[in-house]
Amino acid sequence: MIMLQSVTKRYSQSKPPAVDNMTLSVPQGKIFGFLGPNGAGKSTTIKMIVGLLRQDSGTISVGPYDNISDPVALKRAIGYVPDEPLFYENMTGNQYLRFIADIFEVPKTAASERIGKWAKRFTLTEALDDRISSYSRGMKQKLGVIGALIHDCKVLILDEPMVGLDPRASFTLKEVMREFCNNGGTVFFSTHVMDVAERLCDTVGIINRGKLAACGTFAELKNSTGEQQATLEQIFLELTDGEDETTVAH
Ligand SMILES: Nc1ncnc2c1ncn2[C@@H]1O[C@H](COP(=O)(O)OP(=O)(O)OP(=O)(O)O)[C@@H](O)[C@H]1O
Ligand SMILES: [Mg+2]
Repeated sequence: MIMLQSVTKRYSQSKPPAVDNMTLSVPQGKIFGFLGPNGAGKSTTIKMIVGLLRQDSGTISVGPYDNISDPVALKRAIGYVPDEPLFYENMTGNQYLRFIADIFEVPKTAASERIGKWAKRFTLTEALDDRISSYSRGMKQKLGVIGALIHDCKVLILDEPMVGLDPRASFTLKEVMREFCNNGGTVFFSTHVMDVAERLCDTVGIINRGKLAACGTFAELKNSTGEQQATLEQIFLELTDGEDETTVAH
């Protein structure tokens, strides 16, 4: 469903690529967790998949859509929650969600029904008529997630979606991600929370300095490191470097 083939992206010619020859795929119906140290290239990869950044080389597709030749169809197919959701803060939550629904041409009755359903699920109903400028960090994160779900997409792409969420909302989001996949959807998300990745993901990819250091099911990662008792956290620490100038220990 999501395919990256030899994708490279540089921000500056004088620096190493932010994403370096990345090849990975996520099948339909699966949850993929993208892990890696700060600055490893997760958000850069995600921004290319959703069509906000253009790769220097390589190809990216979501379903039948190429991110460069079919950007509009690709954006219709996905729901995206950025690492730092930006809103028109003078709007109310309700106005914002209706605005997003209009952009995606969701019929008014379906939009109302979905806004009601998701706001209830994420306990945001009471705040929907308040201005977004009055929302807490977590409330804005919930609004971003609901905005990504409003057009009933087939692929969810979430950049650190649990940040700022309280334990109940985080639990709900994990439930929603699993249900989404059980209904035939596909989820690609980045996280720094190893427990979440270990328990929730069908496959994980660990990126280090722009390169994919490991990719597969948790069992496959344990096999490849030869440590059957290892936690995902231990595998992560082994495959990623701790200091700026050290060589990668793998
Ligand atoms: N707009 C930009 N201009 C120049 N360099 C950038 C830009 N965005 C990211 N980078 C660089 O690209 C590299 C990868 O950054 P990216 O944001 O993709 O990392 P990340 O894995 O998402 O990190 P984090 O876990 O902190 O969110 C870093 O070296 C970063 O400094
Ligand atoms: Mg990031």
